[in-house]
Amino acid sequence: MDTHAYARWFRDSTPYISAHRRKTFVVLLGADAIAQANLTNIVHDLALLHTLGVRLVVVHGCREQLDTGVAGSTFVSGRRVTDEATMDHIAAVNGQLRSRLEALFSMGLPATPMHNADITVVSGNFVSARPIGVIDGVDHLFTGKVRKVRTAQLRAVLENGAVALLSPLGYSASGQVFNVAAAELAADVAITLDADKLITFDALPHLVDGNGQRRSGIEPGALDACLDDPVISATLSENTAAHLRALGRAVRGGVTRGHLVSYADDGALLAELFTAAGVGTQVSEELHGLVRPARPADVAAIVEVIRPLEETGALVRRPRDRLEAEIDHFFVAEVDSIVVGTCALYPHGDVAELACVAVKESFQNQPGLNVGTHIVTEVERVAAIRGLKRLFVLTTQAHHWFEKLGYLPASVDDLPAEKQKLYNLQRKSKVLFKTLGSS
Ligand SMILES: CC(C)(COP(=O)(O)OP(=O)(O)OC[C@H]1O[C@@H](n2cnc3c(N)ncnc32)[C@H](O)[C@@H]1OP(=O)(O)O)[C@@H](O)C(=O)NCCC(=O)NCCS
Repeated sequence: MDTHAYARWFRDSTPYISAHRRKTFVVLLGADAIAQANLTNIVHDLALLHTLGVRLVVVHGCREQLDTGVAGSTFVSGRRVTDEATMDHIAAVNGQLRSRLEALFSMGLPATPMHNADITVVSGNFVSARPIGVIDGVDHLFTGKVRKVRTAQLRAVLENGAVALLSPLGYSASGQVFNVAAAELAADVAITLDADKLITFDALPHLVDGNGQRRSGIEPGALDACLDDPVISATLSENTAAHLRALGRAVRGGVTRGHLVSYADDGALLAELFTAAGVGTQVSEELHGLVRPARPADVAAIVEVIRPLEETGALVRRPRDRLEAEIDHFFVAEVDSIVVGTCALYPHGDVAELACVAVKESFQNQPGLNVGTHIVTEVERVAAIRGLKRLFVLTTQAHHWFEKLGYLPASVDDLPAEKQKLYNLQRKSKVLFKTLGSS
């Protein structure tokens, strides 16, 4: 990478560094991820997140490692029936996996990204469980379900700067140990901690749409539809389906975002978290809720979005003091608390101009995110509520894009009189109108 590309890459990732600091991420490292040669790199990347101030809870699985040691287990709806002998074996395997992960987090070799990282990993009885009981006539014995997560104690661990490491086990008041499904545990912990992200490492690098294109984002409802679709679900492994279900449940339960990332691709986690395009699939309700009215504190962030577009001539130059004075007309779109798009609404009677529609360069044309479409759609909704009947735009480079959103070509004479007087003949902007209520 040349110096220019490196500087640009570093600058582009900087907003994410501050956006992720002091956020809580729950990470599911399933048994299949732990079995990967890439595990050391994954742990290094998790250590990097920790160093950048992310509060990490790592939940590990153990199923693959158990399957090789426990012959003839009975499974009901994908759940292992755990008898006493199996439970002893599960406890032993979990102990081994936990110490393996603790050892990886303790690495501090000078040649690794963990040099001087000095990370403390804390495990403990943070999860209480109850037996899931008899299902379809089968007593599941020591197979359990999460009853309670000791959130305050877990938060204290994170507050003290340690990484929390949870095995898929839960403890009962009578001193019994229960085997719980790692994906369910990760979702339960993420929900009760009110985590910012649940991240699952998976064999599948991302979901794809009907054309085989990566789905960078999906809402929980659409995810459920995929999981319920017999054709799509037949293409998903049992692990992947369990991970996706956990992501959907966590997001519906209040976790801001879920991410499915590859466990085999070195660096997939960092590319997903520190680039606009990402490489995995994120699950979020936020995809539609990312637009809000701008505040005076947003001026600098708006300037960052529009300045490069003013330089290319896509937008008309706006002095900063004018932007400050007119901030109440502006809306912003945010992703991970970073302002990535903007738009202004200037009423002229019951008609209004949609101006300064702009998306940060690295967030433009991101399928699944569609920042531009979301911001215009939301501002149209607000405009209709305010009683505006029609919107117009003046654009030199995006008329096709506006046409796709239902804006129809018009002439300068159709503009409100005061806007006609200001029309810049040299700029030759195209005029488009949309009647609100028409799609
Ligand atoms: C125009 C703009 C707001 C679109 O936002 P965005 O978030 O990139 O776009 P979305 O993700 O919502 O839509 C993407 C689709 O629009 C298409 N598209 C994007 N910019 C386009 C343009 N200038 N002209 C035509 N189509 C465009 C993409 O190819 C993509 O098409 P597809 O869905 O068929 O693949 C953004 O590219 C931008 O900031 N452009 C520069 C500023 C500008 O020209 N603003 C308008 C003046 S008011």
